[in-house]
Amino acid sequence: MTDSHEHRPADALVIRPFQNADAPAVARLVTDSVRGHWTYGPERFKESPDPQRRRLVAVNGAEVIATAHFSPFGNATPDALRLDLAGDGAAFTPLYLAHLADLPPGFSRLLGVTHEDFIAQMDFFHAAGFRNAWQSWGAHLDLRDFDFAIFQPLEERLFLKGYEVGQLSNDAPDVDWDALFALHERGLADAPRNPTTTPEPLNPTELREIIVDEETVSVARWHGEIVAFVRLTPREREVESENTVTHPDHRSRGLATLVGARALAWARAEGYAAAGTGGTVLNLPMLRVNTRLGYRVERMWVTWVRALT
Ligand SMILES: CC(C)(COP(=O)(O)OP(=O)(O)OC[C@H]1O[C@@H](n2cnc3c(N)ncnc32)[C@H](O)[C@@H]1OP(=O)(O)O)[C@@H](O)C(=O)NCCC(=O)NCCS
Repeated sequence: MTDSHEHRPADALVIRPFQNADAPAVARLVTDSVRGHWTYGPERFKESPDPQRRRLVAVNGAEVIATAHFSPFGNATPDALRLDLAGDGAAFTPLYLAHLADLPPGFSRLLGVTHEDFIAQMDFFHAAGFRNAWQSWGAHLDLRDFDFAIFQPLEERLFLKGYEVGQLSNDAPDVDWDALFALHERGLADAPRNPTTTPEPLNPTELREIIVDEETVSVARWHGEIVAFVRLTPREREVESENTVTHPDHRSRGLATLVGARALAWARAEGYAAAGTGGTVLNLPMLRVNTRLGYRVERMWVTWVRALT
């Protein structure tokens, strides 16, 4: 004989704040949700005393089946809160509504970032009235297929016009660091961007420290003066390129292509297997440069937005 009271109804969904004991389940849900792009360990998930960072979980029976996290989007977009969802899409709406009932003050819009093939998240943002406002592309290149030789005629042509390409040394003189920072600022002013591709602001000391500690930079000089650069961040097996700038007086001559090719030749010689990059679809010159370098564009990232009224 069956006692119906022994069974929880299938729809007995409980929404509650995240607890530290949920960390392994949440790490698994979040890792699954990004489909192999990144791996998240349980140590990344802790109860937060910060009222602007709130994580809720949806629990069915004893199982955490979904999670939703609100956090400030970043210093470059101080009016925006970011919503990240993972797990069973059927729980996204109750999680979202529970968050909406208790939002931190001081924000005027909500942003969500999803890959085109994160179907449950794409469907949720669409159904919840968010606008598909900005698109960004990601791209990869297999360094084993990269051959600098095809860029040699370009290098020779530019050399005859006074340009030389090389790596920036960590003990470069201050005049080089000043020029690099000025060019970095110029690039920020000129680059079309969206909230997802807007970097955190850096002062000259911070930029120099990040480069010395974590990155390698290829530069083009014109009669000694730095007029173009690309920053590469070496990861485990892959290098990531996020920031390329050419001084406006020297654009459309192939300099970004050449510094990019030099950087990739360096990465290949150092034994890295692949290179990754990305940017907003609005940046046609950068898309062109990366296509010439051999990057293959992948599915797009979509930034969704909804005003908080
Ligand atoms: C993007 C940027 C680095 C390109 O530098 P560059 O030295 O001019 O690049 P290159 O000369 O190697 O190549 C640019 C390509 O874009 C093409 N291009 C230029 N303007 C374009 C436009 N509006 N639409 C489409 N293509 C364009 C050029 O014709 C060239 O292609 P080609 O070699 O096939 O003719 C430079 O425009 C820049 O510094 N922009 C501001 C900072 C920025 O946006 N950085 C990228 C994001 S971090």
